[in-house]
Amino acid sequence: MIYLSGLLGFLFIFTAEARVGNSSGLSFCTETEQCLLFDLICKTADYEVRHYEAVNWVSTNETSWSMDVAVMKAFRRLFAYIKGNNIQMTAPVIIEVPPKKYFWQVSSTTYTMSFLLPVEHQKNPINPTDVKVYIDRKPEVKAYVRSYGGWMMGFSDHYQAGILSSALDAVGAVYSSFHYGVGYNSPMAVFNRHNEVWFLSEDDPVCDSSEEMDLSPIF
Ligand SMILES: *[C@@H]1O[C@H](CO)[C@@H](O)[C@H](O)[C@H]1NC(C)=O
Ligand SMILES: *[C@@H]1O[C@H](CO)[C@@H](O)[C@H](O)[C@H]1NC(C)=O
Repeated sequence: MIYLSGLLGFLFIFTAEARVGNSSGLSFCTETEQCLLFDLICKTADYEVRHYEAVNWVSTNETSWSMDVAVMKAFRRLFAYIKGNNIQMTAPVIIEVPPKKYFWQVSSTTYTMSFLLPVEHQKNPINPTDVKVYIDRKPEVKAYVRSYGGWMMGFSDHYQAGILSSALDAVGAVYSSFHYGVGYNSPMAVFNRHNEVWFLSEDDPVCDSSEEMDLSPIF
C-alpha cells in the first residue's frame, strides 16, 4: 500500500506539472517555450471540448468601458510583474469577460487578465509587489473552445463569443455566463495568429454533431 500510494503521489505530481509544458506539443503555441496543455475530450464542426487541470496564473483586474483599453492596461501591469521577476512569457494570455447585463449597458465592465505561470513558478509563485496584481489558482475546467485567426480585439472577441454561444444553445449545452478571450501571439506577430473564445462547461459536456440534432424534431 505504501508503495502504491507513493507511486500515485508521484504520478499526481508528474501529471500536475505536465499541464504546463513544452510548446512543441501544440501546433498553435509557436512563440513561447511553455504553454498550457490540455486533453481534448471531443470535437464538433463548431467547437472543441477541452479538459484543463488546475493551474496557477498571475492576474489583474481592470475596469473600463472598453475591453481594448482594459486589455492594454492589464497587459502592462502583468508584463511588469514577469519582467521584474525574470519570468519568461508563456501562452495563452486569457481575459475573463463578464456577461453584459443589459443590452443597453454602456457603463464600465471589470475584466480580469491572467498570464500563465511557467512550470518552475507553479509551486511557489513569487508574491507580486503591485497590490493590483495577484496570484490566482484557477480550478480544473472543461471548456467549450472556438478558434479564430487575426487579432483579438473587443469586437472580434464579442463576435466570436456570439457564434460559439449560438452553437452551444443549439445543442442545449449548459455553460458559464462569462467567457474567456484567449490569445497565443504577441501583438507584433503577423502570420498564423491563433485566438480562442472559451465558455466553461457547467454540466456534462455536449458533443452531439449538428446532424444528430437535426433529426430530433422528428421524434
Ligand atoms: C521540447 O521538445 C522538443 C522536441 O521533443 C525538444 O527538442 C526541446 O528540447 C524541448 N524543449 C524544452 C524546453 O524542453
Ligand atoms: C477580480 O475580478 C474577479 C472577477 O470579476 C473577482 O472575482 C475578484 O474578486 C476580483 N479580484 C480583485 C482583487 O479585485
